[in-house]
Amino acid sequence: MSICGIDFGTSNSAISVKSGKGFELIELEQGNKTTPSALYYPFDGGEMLLGHAAIDEYVTYGEGRLLRGLKSLLGSATYDLQTRAGRKIIKFDEAIGHLVSYLKNSAQTVTGNDIESVVLGRPVQFVGSGEAINETALARLTLVAQEAGFKHIEFQYEPIAAALSYENTIEKEQIVLVVDIGGGTSDFSVIRCRPNADKSLDRKDDVLANWGVRIGGTNLDVQLNLISVMGLLGYESKLKSDFGNVITEVPPSLFIDLATWHKIIFAYEPKNVRLAEDLLRQSLDKPLLKRLLEVMQERLAHQICATVEAAKIELSNTDEKTLDLGFIETGLNSTVTRQAFETSVETLMDRILQALNEVTNAANISANQIDTIMLTGGASNTPVLIKTVSDVFPNANLVKHRSMDAVAQGLGIHAGRVFG
Ligand SMILES: Nc1ncnc2c1ncn2[C@@H]1O[C@H](COP(=O)(O)OP(=O)(O)OP(=O)(O)O)[C@@H](O)[C@H]1O
Ligand SMILES: [Mg+2]
Repeated sequence: MSICGIDFGTSNSAISVKSGKGFELIELEQGNKTTPSALYYPFDGGEMLLGHAAIDEYVTYGEGRLLRGLKSLLGSATYDLQTRAGRKIIKFDEAIGHLVSYLKNSAQTVTGNDIESVVLGRPVQFVGSGEAINETALARLTLVAQEAGFKHIEFQYEPIAAALSYENTIEKEQIVLVVDIGGGTSDFSVIRCRPNADKSLDRKDDVLANWGVRIGGTNLDVQLNLISVMGLLGYESKLKSDFGNVITEVPPSLFIDLATWHKIIFAYEPKNVRLAEDLLRQSLDKPLLKRLLEVMQERLAHQICATVEAAKIELSNTDEKTLDLGFIETGLNSTVTRQAFETSVETLMDRILQALNEVTNAANISANQIDTIMLTGGASNTPVLIKTVSDVFPNANLVKHRSMDAVAQGLGIHAGRVFG
């Protein structure tokens, strides 16, 4: 029997297992210890694919259903809906189950042992609205893990797991603000990290505060998509009503859904296609709305999101990027600057600032009592986010720690302590 830690992420997932020396991340795809949390179900009933293979197949052939960002559905009513790929009905719990089983099976193949015990990561706040989101999401995740064959299931906050991973690398005690900015959520913890922390489970006294907001890299993608691509499909364009001469703007929600990974499949529903047809009829800029309709009929929104996400990542290292949208229309492209991107996410940065304020208040410490800011999660590589955080804590030491796998590693460390 063996034990493991699983980071089921909005964008990427990873698993660590007990090995002789401690905990090790399992190689899931050639050379990669994380895999995109993506599934692809072909319409012709062929084999379901996961990870990079799912995304590649979808982008190359497109004749199937791509699911990404499923973690964001865990706390919502949409979770109980289902979608189809040809004749196959896909339930979201089963889809998440496929991912979790894939992680478990990959680890079992490498270790040669059955794995029955797992510590699953959880954000401080799951994505969704309403009071009971967290309880609902945890209950659903527990069921998925049981279905996948786990007999002992525990949860740990993702930022605390990241801190446990970081703690392995330090030489002196410090107050650390963990900033874990992933695809769907940003999690913050203030933790006293100690190089020789005893291996006891109870670190209550060391965890000074935990805070989370439902903002992640995906929200940045949506803003970049709206300013760079959706305008070419009619976002913010004008309509003239069928009756009278009233001029209005197109409703934004359809464009926002088409720009949001986990909402795209719902945006394609027939009622939305009819809405797009209505908008085209009333549009004062018909070529744009015609493009919108084509994107929906050809199901190109995932490819748009992938192009936008890649551009966002490039904008972390460059001042300007041209998005090639030739897959929508020959020769179509859009150039966006880092400055414009940063302006489009100002409101989100305000909410991050607010959260930083809340977490230090909850920890009952002032900004200059924080020794170290430990950044992790893919989106923590975004310059505007780094600046937003470091401006609040000018005296703290800024450390980037394993942006893609600190959480999975820390969940393994915690698993060793819980089940050890
Ligand atoms: N260099 C980069 N610059 C900016 N963003 C990046 C970079 N690399 C990755 N990202 C973004 O990081 C996000 C994914 O990060 P990560 O894998 O940590 O998320 P996750 O753990 O799956 O999500 P969550 O923890 O919210 O469930 C994506 O939005 C991705 O676009
Ligand atoms: Mg994460």
